[in-house]
Amino acid sequence: MAGKVVLAYSGGLDTSVSILWLKEKYGYDVVTLTVDVGQKEDLKEVEERAKAIGALRHYSIDAKSEFASDYIFPSIKANALYEGKYPLGTALARPLIAKKLVEVAEEEGAEAVAHGCTGKGNDQVRFDVTIRALNPRLKIIAPVREWGMDRESERRFAVERGIPISQKKSRFSIDQNLWSRSIEGSELEDPFFEPPQEAFEWVKVEDLPDEATYVTLRFEGGVPIALDGEELAPVELIERLNSIAGANGFGIVDHVEDRLVGIKSREVYEAPAALSILEAHKDLEKLVLTKHELEFKRLVDEKWSWLVYNGLWIEPLRMELDSFINEGQKRVNGEVRLKYYKGGMRVVGRRSSESIYDRSLATYEGASAFDQSLAKGFIELWGLQSRLGFRRVEG
Ligand code: ARG
Repeated sequence: MAGKVVLAYSGGLDTSVSILWLKEKYGYDVVTLTVDVGQKEDLKEVEERAKAIGALRHYSIDAKSEFASDYIFPSIKANALYEGKYPLGTALARPLIAKKLVEVAEEEGAEAVAHGCTGKGNDQVRFDVTIRALNPRLKIIAPVREWGMDRESERRFAVERGIPISQKKSRFSIDQNLWSRSIEGSELEDPFFEPPQEAFEWVKVEDLPDEATYVTLRFEGGVPIALDGEELAPVELIERLNSIAGANGFGIVDHVEDRLVGIKSREVYEAPAALSILEAHKDLEKLVLTKHELEFKRLVDEKWSWLVYNGLWIEPLRMELDSFINEGQKRVNGEVRLKYYKGGMRVVGRRSSESIYDRSLATYEGASAFDQSLAKGFIELWGLQSRLGFRRVEG
């Protein structure tokens, strides 16, 4: 007997077929693990399916709060949008799932862990890098990367072997959690083709309300703590905002994304809460941080997103960037007012006890605390070198 393997099990086709593959090809006893990061699957059903296919034991771990507080919240402080667009839902969840996989493997005394990632995506990197860092003794098996079956052969295999496959399955490849719903594949592989309405589940695309909807978010230490004056736990706040913003047609991303393995891929996301919170957070930062902090932080934020997208959650640099970010975020307290209307969203107000906006300096009305007579000399020196250099260039 080869011992035990713990498989990250979603209940989908790939990981269902993997249970049999791990048993038959490797002779493993298969323990399955489903980590709830807000994917809204029926966990009981997932467990029953795993056992029906032949899992020795199944674990369901509710990691929603941990996901929100320890993964999503740091990404908010870092204004994390990969290539300026993607709020990193999948990328943030993978290292957490990998961590749980390692914990269960250690508890079970398993010699290997397995996941259902293909060899073409980012997720394999995120899993493998994290697992190797946390426990280098564990063997990693990625059946889908090894077996060379396409979706159709997998389906045939499942039918032949009596593996139950869910009927309501969409034709798109979906990965969803609290922070984003990613929609790939099928006709979306043509980047010019507009995603059809049925691709979307979180964002309403038709019959939008005729009235605008306003939401006020309160931030403390750079993270949202209340919605319209009501303090909410992170998971609840995100869920509630997902439904408000989604109902108003806001939260779709459609772009061409550069994967770590070199492939360009057309990606469509629904992320109503994520995009709202990130926009509000960035706006509030502008009220309280200096222009020097903001300028430098843009570089830090960009690097943070890049590391996390590319599977390096456990990299010391990411943690060191967090330390830098956390220092400035102590002052990112205040309220941001958002207005949703017919699929659009914009910030319409912001205020903060830490604000360094000074109306008496900025005002065009009446007497100002800003001494305009100082401007002339300042500009003389500000342009000094440019003026001298320009004369040389022009000859
Ligand atoms: N492109 C996104 C990312 O790399 C989403 C991937 C979705 N993953 C999936 N297994 N369908 O994070």
